[in-house]
Amino acid sequence: MTTTPKTSDEILVLGATGKTGRRLVDVLRKQGRTVRAASRSGEVRFDWHDRETWPAALEGAAAVYLVAPDDPAPVRPFVEQAVEAGVRRFVALSGRGMDRIPEGAFAGMAAAEEAVRDCGVEWTVIRPNNFQQNFGEGDWLDPVRAGRLALPIGSAPEPFIDARDIAEVAAVLLTSDGHHGQVYDLSGPEALTFGAAVETIAAAAGRPIRYEELVPEEYRAELRAGGVPEEVVGDLDAMFAAMRAGHLAEPADGVRRVLGREPAGFGAYAARAAAAGAWS
Ligand SMILES: NC(=O)c1ccc[n+]([C@@H]2O[C@H](COP(=O)([O-])OP(=O)(O)OC[C@H]3O[C@@H](n4cnc5c(N)ncnc54)[C@H](OP(=O)(O)O)[C@@H]3O)[C@@H](O)[C@H]2O)c1
Repeated sequence: MTTTPKTSDEILVLGATGKTGRRLVDVLRKQGRTVRAASRSGEVRFDWHDRETWPAALEGAAAVYLVAPDDPAPVRPFVEQAVEAGVRRFVALSGRGMDRIPEGAFAGMAAAEEAVRDCGVEWTVIRPNNFQQNFGEGDWLDPVRAGRLALPIGSAPEPFIDARDIAEVAAVLLTSDGHHGQVYDLSGPEALTFGAAVETIAAAAGRPIRYEELVPEEYRAELRAGGVPEEVVGDLDAMFAAMRAGHLAEPADGVRRVLGREPAGFGAYAARAAAAGAWS
């Protein structure tokens, strides 16, 4: 006997403890939406690598914010299972320049883009630039605190985006019609060199922090010495090559198209994060 899936207006947010997911949960709840905040350590336990956690996370969900794992293998089975369980809309978090990086890089995000395009229900893909929050709660936090951020960027500037803007965009895409089949590039309002971004943070934090330019070989060696897995080294290498080539450097209009306002700038982020003690 087949049963018709029961759907409601519940929204399953994956990566709900992460930089965009956590903010998206807040935005949706402030709007009065019913949200399942899911991740390995989230309110609802969801693990990409433990399929037994999937059915309970999906039960009753009508829409999913999809933050892909690094490993592409579980992505398509999850999307298929979600549609079978009654999900009617996906918003997949991808990355700026996904169409400009070599095949095989960021395989999880690529699998997510492909799986939602093929899934037969509504989908939207968002491709943000590097997050402003990477400096204060992500991979660059420890180096920034230690006073030296060293990357292989060249002189290309980066229009860093506020993760709060990504969350607000995702909330609109999850809860309103008219975005099916769209791919939105999302960035901040202005492109800054990493040197200028680090100077802004140093000034806001009131401590010396320097940006050091590495050649790609030196950067790979630093990552490997820090125990970063080889596939992540490859992904970062591909991303920084795309950045050096200038493929991610132009500000994009996705935030304005979805929210009808300009995205938030880097200086405001640095001041806010410094006041909250990110670098103290
Ligand atoms: N950071 C950027 O600048 C940037 C830019 C463009 C695109 N992206 C993409 O955005 C995605 C997330 O990056 P992020 O920087 O936002 O990372 P993040 O803040 O560390 O968030 C990752 C989230 O995924 C969850 N998670 C990790 N492993 C999981 C697993 N096995 N099963 C279920 N949930 C898992 C984590 O929660 P638990 O630990 O509780 O499971 C966390 O909520 C990545 O695909 C990245 O490539 C990032």
